[in-house]
Amino acid sequence: MLGVLNGVVMEISDCAFPLLRDVVATADVEAAFKDIDYAFLVGAMPRREGMERKDLLRANVGIFKVQGGALDKLAKKDVKVLVVGNPANTNALICSKYAPSIPKENITAMTRLDQNRALAQIADHVKSQVQNVRKLIIWGNHSNTQFPDARFVEVQKDNSWSSITKIQHDEKFLKEQLIPIVQKRGAEVIAARKLSSAMSAAQAAADHMRDWFHGTKKDDWISMAVVSKGEYGVPQGLVFSFPVTVENRQWKIVPDLPIDDFAREKIQITTKELEEERQEAQAATESQ
Ligand code: LMR
Repeated sequence: MLGVLNGVVMEISDCAFPLLRDVVATADVEAAFKDIDYAFLVGAMPRREGMERKDLLRANVGIFKVQGGALDKLAKKDVKVLVVGNPANTNALICSKYAPSIPKENITAMTRLDQNRALAQIADHVKSQVQNVRKLIIWGNHSNTQFPDARFVEVQKDNSWSSITKIQHDEKFLKEQLIPIVQKRGAEVIAARKLSSAMSAAQAAADHMRDWFHGTKKDDWISMAVVSKGEYGVPQGLVFSFPVTVENRQWKIVPDLPIDDFAREKIQITTKELEEERQEAQAATESQ
């Protein structure tokens, strides 16, 4: 992949980023991870047609064992990690297992792409723009079991924010259309491009890290897949997407949101999938 990497270096240079000081393109783990503050773990083995989940997880245990070990040994102890490569939530879990000296809170997975997708769909639906839509939640796995939850969405109109239900009360759109559109969007992009999402994924990764660094806006939430301590009944240790706020580079899960029957059922489905992935990952770890 070093040849490909050269093309990436050229593109980074061509972006003319004013803050860019230096680029090191390397396949050497020591050089890549030494003293780093932030890590975007993009490389992984996504599921391909005909592949069983246990094969997928076996390949990813191989990758994230190395990356977790490198973080543990080489990175700064307060390194902040974003796992982008799929299956992202469980890859983050594996990474964390092999990086015991890095706080579990610092190893996260990306559901910001799903959040952005949902915001764009809602903005389009209410004939507004994404910056006028907030408090959309992605719960669970970055997969087609995720739950894009629009129950708390607020829309800005004439400089004031109000619940989406006041702007346009369209349960059918929010429950029957938005959820499957967002759940299946990654697959749709692949079908159209014959390649996985790239530009939108890169933007979402930048959004995730920017907000982790600078904090979230007042009265807004973002979705990040973070380690569960049992919040909202999600089993401890799963890397699960929750609504969070960020202050002083620490995320905090938004507490005490009401969970109705519809939401509970959806959260249970994605929880079950993540528990199965965790079991498969554990089995794959033991067999390595
Ligand atoms: C996406 O959501 O666009 C990707 O995670 C899809 C994929 O499987 O690469």
